[in-house]
This record gives sequence, C-alpha cells and structure tokens, in this order.
Amino acid sequence: MASVTCTAPVNIAVIKYWGKRDTELILPTNDSLSVTLSQDILHSKTSISAQAEFDQDRLWLNGKEEDITKNKRMHNCFRETRALRRAMEEQDGSLPKLSTFGVHVCSENNFPTAAGLASSASGLAALVFALAQLYKLPIDMSDLSRIARQGSGSACRSLFGGFVAWETGKEDDGSDSRAVQIAPDTHWPELEALVCVVSDKKKGTSSTSGMQQTIESSPLMQERLRVVPGRMAAMTQAILDRDFPAFAELTMQDSNQFHSVCLDTYPPIFYLNDTSRGIIQLIHAYNKLHGGYKAAYTFDAGPNAVIYAPKENMKEIIQLIHHYFPAGQDTPRDVYFSDPYQVFQDDAA
Ligand code: ADP
Ligand code: DP6
Ligand code: CO
Repeated sequence: MASVTCTAPVNIAVIKYWGKRDTELILPTNDSLSVTLSQDILHSKTSISAQAEFDQDRLWLNGKEEDITKNKRMHNCFRETRALRRAMEEQDGSLPKLSTFGVHVCSENNFPTAAGLASSASGLAALVFALAQLYKLPIDMSDLSRIARQGSGSACRSLFGGFVAWETGKEDDGSDSRAVQIAPDTHWPELEALVCVVSDKKKGTSSTSGMQQTIESSPLMQERLRVVPGRMAAMTQAILDRDFPAFAELTMQDSNQFHSVCLDTYPPIFYLNDTSRGIIQLIHAYNKLHGGYKAAYTFDAGPNAVIYAPKENMKEIIQLIHHYFPAGQDTPRDVYFSDPYQVFQDDAA
C-alpha cells in the first residue's frame, strides 16, 4: 500500500472565472486572476492511498462517503495522473504497479464546503497534488495545473501561492490553458484578506451549473467578455505596482459585474443576500469617509465576503464588521483573519 497526505489552500479571484467554452476539458471563456490565501486558515486536507485490493476509486468528504461513480471530472484527474504513472512503470519495471490499483481518498475542508469559499479549488488541488506525490510524477506545477483544471477550473490556480492567473489558452485540446504565477506571496506582504462567513449553508446552485446557465441565457455576458481582457491587464499592473487603489477598484467592479451576469441569467441566480449587500454598502461608506480606497470586497458564487485591505486597516475593518453585523443568524459569525499568503506547501506524510 502507498499513501500520502497533502493540504492545499483556497484562492479567491479578483477577476472572476465564470463560463466555459468546453465543459468536458474545463476551458474557460475568459482569463481570471486570484490571490491564494494562507493555508494556515482555510485549507483542504486530503489523504489518499492506493492498494491492490481496492477495486475502485472512492471518496470520503468531511467524514461521509460521496458517490463519485458519475463524477467525470474527478475521474479525469485519476485518469490523467494514472496515465503518467503507467508510462513510468513501463519504462522502469522495478516500480510498484500503483497505476493498476484503486485509490481511496479521504478529504476534510476546515471551512464551509460548497458555500462560495472555493472548496472545489482547494479540494481538487489537494487531490491532484496528492496523486502527483503518490505516483512520484516528475511534473512541474504548471503542467499539473492543467490536470487540476479538469477537476474544477478554479483548482488550477490553487497550485501556486501569491497572485495567480489562469490563462484561457487558444488550443482546443486545452494544452495551453494553465495557471501561472504573476507574483509570489512575498511580493505584497501588506495586503491581507479577511473572510466573513455570512452563511455556511450549501449554495442552491453549484458554480458548475450556474455558469453554464449564464453562458446559455445572459446577453450581458457578451459585455463581460469584452471588458475582462482590459481588466486583466490593469489588475496585473496594479499587483506588480502594489497599487491598492487600482487593485481595490477593479476587484469590486469585477465582483459586481460577475453578480450582475448572475442576475441577468434567466431564470436569475442569486448568490448575494441582504447581509452581503450590507457589507458592500459598508465598505463603500468606509472608503468614502476616508476619501480613498481603504478596503475592497469580493464575493464568489455564494453570500460570503472576502475583504482585501492593507494590514494597517484590518483592525478597524474587523471592528466595523462586528459593530454593524453582530453575530446572529445569517450574519458574519466567523471572521477568519488570513495572514500573508503562503506558497503552496506539501504536507506529505
Ligand atoms: P465552492 O464555492 O465551495 O467551490 P462549488 O460548487 O464550486 O463550491 O463546488 C463544491 C463541490 O466541490 C463539492 O460539492 C464537492 O463535489 C467538491 N469538493 C469540495 N471540497 C472537496 C474536497 N476537499 N475534495 C474533493 N472534492 C471537493
Ligand atoms: C465564482 O471552479 O468552482 O469562484 O470549474 O465548474 O468546478 P467548475 O467551477 P469553479 O468556479 C469558480 C467560480 C468563481 C470565480 C473564480 O474562482 O474565478
Ligand atoms: Co468552486
């Protein structure tokens, strides 16, 4: 038996991925850019083992077995990594034939699953990274990101720390659709992220299904595809310059446009709730009071807020959030304070 345990961090996009041009290979309609959060705070921890007696691949998620027999995307990750292992075994006959064994996966998220906090990103990144470790694949992170992408699009960005772009790519086979690091976590240590858990409930519409409905019915999506390339260039520059005002404005505008295309989807998809909208208003009021950008919000496909701000403002922001949204139902109950971003680290046992 061979086994390994790895952790992977979540990443929260500041230019959102929302829409696929190929649903099988998971090729996106636009480039996206995210910040990988410290895995000390939010992570998926995944243990895998391969054994000759295992006749199929199985997954236990947060202590409960999930039926993955129809989960094509997970199987794509198993298939791709196994094929690389098989090639190694064919070259070197002394290697154990792990590629012929079933794999059992046991994974825990230490934060709400399927609630808009990127559990599919950390979860599938942890799985693919663990498979690469188990099979001892001589593969770089960029190539591995093409496999993680096929498990969940956003997962390709969680293989890198710091500031990460997912390039759409031009090829139909997805060979150039991969993640690249724009800057490491050490590039902008003053920038921090605050995760406000508004609701830990599972979302009503998964990201996979939501983005497909948007592609099929939202006329506004065409406008989004027109503006994203300019935003990607401006956001990359803002990060390289550590220009917080530019970073903040683009982050909030892109989050708002993403939720606008959700509303423009027919029938509409609502990921934000009243508390989310209250947080948006609070951040704008706070910025206005100071006559500049002190903080920026962003929301993934769920009601939970991520607030990016320079470290020096964080204490005040946490006080404001607690004051205006005292703990209760559907209000930010947990405030994860995410320190500097950490480069992805293997926890291999
Ligand atoms: P989120 O906003 O949390 O990313 P998604 O709708 O994109 O929500 O994806 C949630 C799905 O991702 C879960 O239902 C599960 O299938 C998968 N997932 C989440 N965490 C893990 C994990 N640790 N290991 C494997 N799969 C996971
Ligand atoms: C709003 O990566 O979860 O978080 O590729 O279908 O698994 P699939 O979707 P997923 O979508 C993430 C959408 C988002 C924006 C982002 O992370 O860029
Ligand atoms: Co997701």
